Amino acid sequence: MLTSNGGKIIMSESNLLKVSGLDKVYDIKKLMMPTLKLKALTNIHFHVDRKETLGIVGESGCGKSTLAKVLTKLEARTNGNIELIGKPFDSFTGAEFHSAIQMVFQDPYQSLNPRKKAIDIIADPLVINTQKSSAEIKDLVLEMMKKVGLREEFATRYPHHFSGGQRQRLGIARALMLQPEILILDEPVSALDVSIQAQVLNLLLELQKEFSLAYLFISHDLSVIQHMSDRIMVMYLGRVVEYGTRDQIFNNPLHPYTKILLESAPQTNRRENSEHITVKGELPSALNLPVGCAFEPRCPYAQESCKKSVPLLEIKQGREVACFVAQ
Ligand SMILES: Nc1ncnc2c1ncn2[C@@H]1O[C@H](COP(=O)(O)OP(=O)(O)OP(=O)(O)O)[C@@H](O)[C@H]1O
Ligand SMILES: [Mg+2]
Repeated sequence: MLTSNGGKIIMSESNLLKVSGLDKVYDIKKLMMPTLKLKALTNIHFHVDRKETLGIVGESGCGKSTLAKVLTKLEARTNGNIELIGKPFDSFTGAEFHSAIQMVFQDPYQSLNPRKKAIDIIADPLVINTQKSSAEIKDLVLEMMKKVGLREEFATRYPHHFSGGQRQRLGIARALMLQPEILILDEPVSALDVSIQAQVLNLLLELQKEFSLAYLFISHDLSVIQHMSDRIMVMYLGRVVEYGTRDQIFNNPLHPYTKILLESAPQTNRRENSEHITVKGELPSALNLPVGCAFEPRCPYAQESCKKSVPLLEIKQGREVACFVAQ
């Protein structure tokens, strides 16, 4: 939220992350072929406030992980403005940046060095980014292991000795060592058994309270998104199509795509007597997006105008929605 201060525009205290006009284009190079441009993210705007969870949901390939990678500087953005804790994204030193934002990956096994013991994996961010002594670091690691529910004897074990849920706890512990303000969680429980998912989600909720964390929570599972999020951003082929509170999205979705997502998710609390919508047609290629609304080829409500230009986000019924037809 922006407020005016004697003519100077400042960010509200609670705006931890503010993203505007964010684009990410991948160059696809093939031998003897012209370079193709893949628009993974187009004109993304959103903000994340202190202690809240912004859920990000959408089908495979809609750009969720690309967004996570851009926000953690694993990928460079093509265009757009990002402010983190009120400062320009590009003005942070490495250590400052890692103390502000951290990421937990979907597959903890791939993201953890198999040749390192748990204690060293969790200690790494402190070893790299701070001047703390080994004794201090060891104490902090053991304290964090306790907080994420890992017993002390696990400290000297290697990742392959851990179960899936324990490995994810290890990934979470490592991500929290520098006391970040924001944690990006990219499908953090998708690789886990359903029985373990709830334990890890509950741990994340406890840690969020204890450390006053903001979460950017990415999932394609609507029941998980519903459980975790305060606000939700629905993405379709690199664009935001609907952005509102959890209640707005789940109780009164306006974008036809959001409606279809909710209809096709058996676990979510469906509204009684809701209209039944079916998805028709194929997902267009991100390499060859339609001139008009990218959802038009599959949309049961599409009109001629939807083929001619891309609908931009507009406020309708208190949330933002990018659709010519939605009222
Ligand atoms: N390094 C890359 N080079 C080229 N294209 C990429 C690269 N990474 C992702 N893409 C493309 O960008 C688009 C968005 O991919 P992304 O991985 O962000 O989707 P996602 O929403 O995370 O999907 P999933 O739910 O499967 O994880 C896809 O079309 C993908 O093929
Ligand atoms: Mg992904």
